[in-house]
Amino acid sequence: MQTAVNPIADRISTISVSSTMKVSADAEKLRAEGVDVVDFGAGEPDFPTPDNIKQAAIRALGANFTKYTAAGGTAELKKAVCERHAADFGTSYKPSECLITVGGKHAIFNLTQALINPGDEVVIPVPYWVTYKDVVNYAGGKCVFVDTDESAGFTLTAAMIEPHLTDRTRMVIINSPSNPSGAVIDRGEFEKIFKLTSQRGIYLMTDECYCKFVYNGEPYSIASMPGAKETVLVAGSLSKTYAMTGWRIGFGLVPSSIVGAMTKLQSHSTSNPTSISQKAAVEALRGPQDSVPVMLAEYRKRRDFVVARLNAIPGVKCAEPQGAFYAYPNMGVVVGKNGISSSLVLAERLLAESHVAVVPGEAFGTGQHVRISYATSMTELERGLDRIHRFVVKNA
Ligand SMILES: Cc1ncc(COP(=O)(O)O)c(C=O)c1O
Repeated sequence: MQTAVNPIADRISTISVSSTMKVSADAEKLRAEGVDVVDFGAGEPDFPTPDNIKQAAIRALGANFTKYTAAGGTAELKKAVCERHAADFGTSYKPSECLITVGGKHAIFNLTQALINPGDEVVIPVPYWVTYKDVVNYAGGKCVFVDTDESAGFTLTAAMIEPHLTDRTRMVIINSPSNPSGAVIDRGEFEKIFKLTSQRGIYLMTDECYCKFVYNGEPYSIASMPGAKETVLVAGSLSKTYAMTGWRIGFGLVPSSIVGAMTKLQSHSTSNPTSISQKAAVEALRGPQDSVPVMLAEYRKRRDFVVARLNAIPGVKCAEPQGAFYAYPNMGVVVGKNGISSSLVLAERLLAESHVAVVPGEAFGTGQHVRISYATSMTELERGLDRIHRFVVKNA
């Protein structure tokens, strides 16, 4: 039998393996060998899905709500998404401007594939969430990376973005609070970025995955700006807000013509998000919201502990995250020492020698950091930070 000459299509070489998923797989392998691994890699809440949401799924099963739904999601869930966003942020989206997707990642994938032409430039602040770069590359777009100010907690300003806007710029991607840095964009700066992009007809994609997990001040959405609907594209997710990572429900709030394009793409790939999950999502959005502040209070406690412990390690500097549940310490004190040539090697050595899983900064566009997820118990945080402390002291 003849083997194919080029067995894999060229476009697959434009994307890389998700490093966060690779870390989890490597840690899992060690654990299967019986090694006591402390896992700071996983980007998901350690809380269970609230019971009212689980009960809604059980009711959906009982009622045989187990068939195809409309490819872009049920009318009921679209309405619930619009109503929640309106109640939280004062927006006025209609169900025709909403698409339900298989997780927030799917909304981002569909959005980029529906809007980016080969050669289009997409502005992405650094450090960035891994997926943005890959989905832009997959669409044939060109990533234009913009540095942020680490000394000021990785803040992003409109002045940092402006010089990178050209007549080829199609989209700017903002993620506030940020994965991996936890940075939250100052509202005034976000509004300036909105003005910069809307005046030029550039799409502003706002990834609101962590929008409810903000430690200072009230959560806000740039989509609440007057006139935002034409160019602001909201990519949302229920995964972190309601501890529903495995249920796979996300959404887009975008102009209805873009909903049409995304739905067309979705209808030929996943079709509808799981019917049962959609019923659970309606309950998440319409039911009691009190699990969210409970999680936020716990994350705040852990953040304070993690940042203090990291900054107590000689030479390690960690900016204080203002949201989400990640710390992004600068480990420059060991990168370049003892054969640790990069943060990738650092992450490998931390896992192999100290049995702590972290995600290397290379995955997010910086070379001296690692990402620590503190969506894990205080006991695990204590154990893992002790190990990192000892590793750094030994190798610095
Ligand atoms: C910044 C950011 N956006 C979007 C997502 C997508 O989440 P999901 O596809 O699980 O809803 C994640 C998940 O880790 C994320 O960190």
